[in-house]
Amino acid sequence: MALDQFVSALDSMLQEACASLLEVQSSEALEQLRVKYTGAKSGALKSVQKMLGSIDVKDKPAAGKKFNEVRDSIEAALADASQRLGGGSSKPVSGVSFDPTLPGLRPRLGTIHPITQTLEHLKEIMGRLGFNVTEGPEIEDQWHNFVALNIPEDHPARDPLDNFYLATAKSALPRSSGSNQVPEACLLRSQTSTVQIRVMETQPLPLRIISLGRVYRPDAPDATHFPMFHQMEGLWVDRNVTMAQLKSVLRLFATSYLGGDVSIRFRPSFFPFTEPSVEVDYWWNGQWVEFGGAGMVDPNVFHSVGIDPEAWSGFAFGLGVERLCMRRFGITDIRDLYRSDVRFLSQFAT
Ligand code: DAH
Repeated sequence: MALDQFVSALDSMLQEACASLLEVQSSEALEQLRVKYTGAKSGALKSVQKMLGSIDVKDKPAAGKKFNEVRDSIEAALADASQRLGGGSSKPVSGVSFDPTLPGLRPRLGTIHPITQTLEHLKEIMGRLGFNVTEGPEIEDQWHNFVALNIPEDHPARDPLDNFYLATAKSALPRSSGSNQVPEACLLRSQTSTVQIRVMETQPLPLRIISLGRVYRPDAPDATHFPMFHQMEGLWVDRNVTMAQLKSVLRLFATSYLGGDVSIRFRPSFFPFTEPSVEVDYWWNGQWVEFGGAGMVDPNVFHSVGIDPEAWSGFAFGLGVERLCMRRFGITDIRDLYRSDVRFLSQFAT
């Protein structure tokens, strides 16, 4: 048989099949068409397939390809028609029915990420000490991230190599006075101390807040560093707030979160926004581990938000959330928290 004859036989069969399948109105009629074209014994496709044997050897590959295309098109048209008539498969359903005694498929529930668990736990502890939760933006201007926190223009903390300055976001209101009215570049905040400023700018005194959230620094990731991590900031401003209260709050916090047996210590330190400043360590695995910084709010900070440092005093602290979380859950590599490996994370299901 010649190839063109074979091809035109297939084409007219396809045309006829598609035309009738477009018009078919009942599933019985559809079933008849299915048998007519694809029936295993005497379906039209079967008989054309038999003709393949008489095709010239050199034309066989082309003929086989054409045959497959036509068969696929007919099957697709059958499926379309079946769907149009509201049925799933056009094949008759065999005698199998639903067995209500089989155990069900249990849906897989997610678990709460250990960092989220830690954030909730910290809020709960600090809430008992009377601290309200506040939030601040992750994209900050230089006023809130540096200037108002007494971190001047030439301070190394503002180095572009130590911060994620944004190429596009600019602050809406240039704070700088005089001739320089160009909006400054915003950055991904490098610390949650920004929220201290936002709160003191907008909320009435006295205030006692914490703010938890992400901060960003361009550190190369290793077991203890990651370019994004979380901090908990605390701020208490009132008449006559003292360093003794700061120490009590941090000690109460540490024993509540890490366990009654934890030892903590305060080391003199320096931060531009507190005076005096301390670093706070806890004793873990035979060594002192730093868990944050703290101090009495610097009068310059109060000045920048229009609070009179003679009338008010306050303390502030900033703690690393990952460190607290890792100590509690026995996690030794910070990167494990952010690999999104469910096998790892689901171990901390509550
Ligand atoms: N912002 C500091 C940091 O990221 C931590 C800090 C230190 C916050 C002392 C404070 C503070 O509020 O008083 O390294």
